Amino acid sequence: MLEGVGGTGLTVAGIRAEETARPDRLFADPLAAAFVAAAGSPPPRATSRQAAALRLWIVARTVFLDELITAACADGVRQVVLLGAGFDTRAFRLPWPPGVRCFELDTGDVLAAKQQVLTEQGAVAGCERIVVPTDLSGDWPPALRAAGLDPVWPAIWVAEGLLVYLSPGQVDRLLDEVTSLSAPASRLGLTYRNREPGDQSAPAPALRRSVAPDDPAGWLAGCGWAAELASAREVLRAHGRQVPAARPAGRDGSRPRALLISAALDPALARPRPASRRPPARVAAHSQLAVAVRPRPAGQPAAGAAGADHPLPTLLSQTLVAFTIEFDNESEHQIPQQTSRGPAAGARGPWLVSEAMWANFLRFVPAAGVPLGEVAALASVVNLAGLQRWGYITLGPGPADRRARPPRRDWAVRTTAAGQRAQSVWQPLTAGIERRWQQRFGTGEMAALTSSLRAVASQITLDLPPYLPVARVNPADHGAWFAAGRQAGRAGDTELPALLSRVLLAFAVDVERESPLSMVVGAGLLRVLGTDPVRIVGLPGGAGLSKEASSVALGWLKRRGYAVTASGPAASRGQLARLTRRGHQAQQDHRRLVGAVEQRWRDRFGADLISELASTLRALFTHQDGQQRIAAGLVPHPDGWRAHPPYLSRTQAMVDDPAGTLPHYPMVSHRGGFPDGS
Ligand SMILES: C[S@@+](CC[C@H](N)C(=O)[O-])C[C@H]1O[C@@H](n2cnc3c(N)ncnc32)[C@H](O)[C@@H]1O
Repeated sequence: MLEGVGGTGLTVAGIRAEETARPDRLFADPLAAAFVAAAGSPPPRATSRQAAALRLWIVARTVFLDELITAACADGVRQVVLLGAGFDTRAFRLPWPPGVRCFELDTGDVLAAKQQVLTEQGAVAGCERIVVPTDLSGDWPPALRAAGLDPVWPAIWVAEGLLVYLSPGQVDRLLDEVTSLSAPASRLGLTYRNREPGDQSAPAPALRRSVAPDDPAGWLAGCGWAAELASAREVLRAHGRQVPAARPAGRDGSRPRALLISAALDPALARPRPASRRPPARVAAHSQLAVAVRPRPAGQPAAGAAGADHPLPTLLSQTLVAFTIEFDNESEHQIPQQTSRGPAAGARGPWLVSEAMWANFLRFVPAAGVPLGEVAALASVVNLAGLQRWGYITLGPGPADRRARPPRRDWAVRTTAAGQRAQSVWQPLTAGIERRWQQRFGTGEMAALTSSLRAVASQITLDLPPYLPVARVNPADHGAWFAAGRQAGRAGDTELPALLSRVLLAFAVDVERESPLSMVVGAGLLRVLGTDPVRIVGLPGGAGLSKEASSVALGWLKRRGYAVTASGPAASRGQLARLTRRGHQAQQDHRRLVGAVEQRWRDRFGADLISELASTLRALFTHQDGQQRIAAGLVPHPDGWRAHPPYLSRTQAMVDDPAGTLPHYPMVSHRGGFPDGS
């Protein structure tokens, strides 16, 4: 059914069908026989020595690449690109973790013929499979980008049985394009054979146009890829398959006939990307969503920084929350989770939690478990019972503990299978979002921000948690974290959210030492209340809090005599709240105290450093093309709860004006996150 190079994939499918039928098979590809049957050509019979060599080669490379792809996904890679996919059925047969997108690139005729058989067979992919008809000897990257490949995230690229059908110049160009679309930690799996005159042991020998370079590792290193080579025999023997001894090497006496190549992009080797290949700073793939970065709403300035008069803690808070929302949007897209409302209501999977639970606790729980006593300080800043209830961890006497009633501090905290899946999604995410920010704002700007945050953070000698703790509205409850002392070098300490959290928490500590109000309340709900009554229903949006957090803070303000509530006139429906005289005074005192602490920080850390920190943070909120630059990362995936009612309008308001809507101090909810997490 397919002529020319397009038909070569059928020969490969035939060999995979044969292997699948063996009792000692090294993989199972049940669809392969259907492709061959549909094409009407019987699988090749291994009668000759060359046909046997071809079979050995194809079985080995299939196993080799199956393992390479599976290992990359176990390390958190979620984009798989099959170049010259042919009749490859990995999308259907490999055990995929959640959130994987598998792009299959080949010519239109091959992909159409493949689709016909898949439809007839009722085949269902185990990951998100996206076909991209294209000519790999031409300008294919735009089609792959349009199909959804995000070059900010690592990918595993596979060119299996493809390169020999491209000219040497086309192969070099293909490698350049792959490299330019690859984030650090991307992987590459290549197969390459050397043509020898008279060697017919490959599909369509007459169509072959290139051979492997003499020094494949050197060739790849030139593009920043650290490569390892393997031979088909090694791979098969490692899997217990008996294989005949190799014939002497090729005619030049040294070069192997066939290479299995795995490579990882090594930033130390990588050369700079040409500017034209850099992905655009905005997240273009999101532009079709219901929530979108859109032209500046009326009343906002076209240029300059939004929130230009925000004090330092507000800038820190809004930047941390913007990072967290981008992190959460991405992890919620990749981890199947359930929520009480929105598109995941009633779904299977653990309950939704936010970056706070990962950064403060789950990242410190190894697969083998850890005694509770060792992580007790961290457990106190998350909701441990919640993490159990929500399906991420188990807590109980360790399996090897024979004591009748071991003390609770010796109990083992262990992650559930769902918790481990979530950990594998979270693990690479902070670095991924940081890379996105470098692309969005520029590496220079991000380096300046990180370095001024580090300069301040390194002078803070408090023992603070890695991320903001579950909020306590009463400042006295933060007690233990105000103690002097410092846990040295925890995992993730140098990441952007950890630096932002550390500096923000230290600021809060200085304010709360002198204030009857916590920052959560003072910079949160108290800030948006006035002596004139306002509708309670509008408070969460105004303060950047969840409904629940807003009502906890209001209850506290009422109990302390700072605020009162009353029923509104019938026409205005619902409850109203206003500040008492005492509340009004406290509001003014709090604002003054924040200003005074910022001034003291200038004296303590140096005015230049604090000015530099504030201005690099403020720069993230400057306008570009009529929108605040930080807005692009706040756009949720279409399947995320933020893109659905009843959250949609608030999400859009946040994307329209981050500086006007993000909280001046985050209130991490005991329900798992910001702004709600439930
Ligand atoms: C030997 S097959 C291998 C298929 C698949 N990777 C596998 O191992 O089952 C080579 C594949 O590369 C595809 N191919 C070759 N040149 C191509 C080009 N210029 N553009 C797109 N696909 C191409 C062919 O259509 C064919 O499906």
